[in-house]
Amino acid sequence: MTVMETAVDPRNPSYLENRSAMLERLHEFEDALDDARSGGGDKYVNRHHARGKLLPRERIELLVDQDAPFLELSPTAAWGTDFPVGASVVSGIGVIEGVECVIVANDPTVRGGAINPYALKKTQRAGQIALANRLPLVNLVESGGADLPTQAEIFIPGGGVFRDLTRLSAAGIPTISVVFGNATAGGAYVPGMSDYTIMVRHQAKVFLAGPPLVRMATGEITDDESLGGAAMHAGTSGLADYLAEDERDGLRLARQVVRRLNWRKQGPGPRTALPQPPKHDVEDLLAIASADQRTPFDPREVLLRVLDGSEFDEFKPGYGAALVTGWGELHGYPVGVLANARGVLFSEESQKAAQFIQLANASDTPLLFLQNTTGYMVGAEYEQRGIIKHGALMINAVSNSTVPHITINLGASYGAGNYGMCGRAYDPRFLFTWPNAKSAVMGPTQLAGVLSIVARQAAEAKGQHYDEDSDQAMRMMVEQQIESQSTALFLSGRLYDDGIIDPRDTRTVLGLCLSAIHNAPIKGAEGFGVFRM
Ligand code: COA
Repeated sequence: MTVMETAVDPRNPSYLENRSAMLERLHEFEDALDDARSGGGDKYVNRHHARGKLLPRERIELLVDQDAPFLELSPTAAWGTDFPVGASVVSGIGVIEGVECVIVANDPTVRGGAINPYALKKTQRAGQIALANRLPLVNLVESGGADLPTQAEIFIPGGGVFRDLTRLSAAGIPTISVVFGNATAGGAYVPGMSDYTIMVRHQAKVFLAGPPLVRMATGEITDDESLGGAAMHAGTSGLADYLAEDERDGLRLARQVVRRLNWRKQGPGPRTALPQPPKHDVEDLLAIASADQRTPFDPREVLLRVLDGSEFDEFKPGYGAALVTGWGELHGYPVGVLANARGVLFSEESQKAAQFIQLANASDTPLLFLQNTTGYMVGAEYEQRGIIKHGALMINAVSNSTVPHITINLGASYGAGNYGMCGRAYDPRFLFTWPNAKSAVMGPTQLAGVLSIVARQAAEAKGQHYDEDSDQAMRMMVEQQIESQSTALFLSGRLYDDGIIDPRDTRTVLGLCLSAIHNAPIKGAEGFGVFRM
């Protein structure tokens, strides 16, 4: 085993510069988190409390085991969009009666908990996480259903939420709903499709159509309780399995249901009962990623603050040095690591990655991708040496690998480097972003420059004059647009990751994810696609 030594020096001016740049991004993220936590704002929060009801985070706190962690996912979803930060739903992984569960809680203080396009994405992502990692799913329901002004974007795809619930059930993954309030129309199928349903007396309203719509449709005059109250569903329709006296009782009943699931993890447990913490200060993680993205940094400095005992056995250290590969353990779970050491990926790095991914699959070892890449090397020499087919080797290996992948964007994720390093489209079980990190098809300057060259050539081909002033203005505008669309907050807002994390929390977040992942069996691929040699 190799215990790594650090070269990070807190007296170095770049240390302070990196740290202060990271803290600035972290504060922006924390502001966004504050926004999300404030839900619909004081007016709606106070009204909700005055009705004797709990907020989604309060419900979650009472649901999970005392002092157990809750790994919130995509907390700043919808940031930078027309919808409130957080997207009217709270989701994450929490431990209930010792069982790791995915929890999804509507926020009724945000437009009545109505599901907008980002809330839908967040809810569906939570369902995917439950399915891929074999985690029971608990829905804490109180929602006005579809966000009516944006129904066109959510009505048809939204049906997938109910389909996914029943598919979880078919896969042997329990689904539990606790209904605290409105669950109308399509929303009624959340309790309808769940294995276990709990409804809170005098609060739950579960019907296909409320009294006004029933009157319009059939002329019948009726009321909420007879149409869809908790007592009616528990005693007459049979839709509710348990009748809770109040919200706390509902959460107690949910814990009781989980206790009786007889849940067993199918993946192996940690290899070490008491894993060694890293030997170096995690505080330095704020100062490792370069403030100037163009300056590469050594990802080993991250690894030795994240891996157990700062131990890392590097694989092929002398070959394809722009990509670090190797083995370590994290909270006792074995991991294979692929980490960019210089921005660009060359042919050697791609071949090394493909070989390493196959080795991890041969030994059923989960993979951790630490992204800091500007993409595959371009230019005539590299094309002639086959950079496309070598990059394809790596992308094939990533695509067909079946061991769990976790990806963290530490700094940059540009171009096809995003694909080879297991970006969102390559289905990592979890993907997190450091607050400083960026991702786009290419850098803003390069993108604006490409547009400028293309426009100049088009003008020349038509024999037209090319106006340098408008070119300058166009470049500036494009650069600003791409810059703002490449930031961690922008991308996290659109759910291209599972959340931004404080770099100092990296080890804890990875440990929680690895533990959750091991609810499902860990099995390497038996075959890959055709490797083009
Ligand atoms: N789409 C868009 N906005 C909605 C909404 C929906 N489905 N449901 C509620 N809202 C908005 C309300 O217009 C209100 O906005 P405002 O405060 O700016 O006026 C805000 O959310 C809070 O709603 P309010 O009715 O004051 O909250 P409540 O807690 O008293 O009641 C509901 C919540 C969900 C019971 C009630 O709003 C309702 O019945 N909504 C419609 C439900 C429905 O039929 N949905 C269609 C199902 S597919």
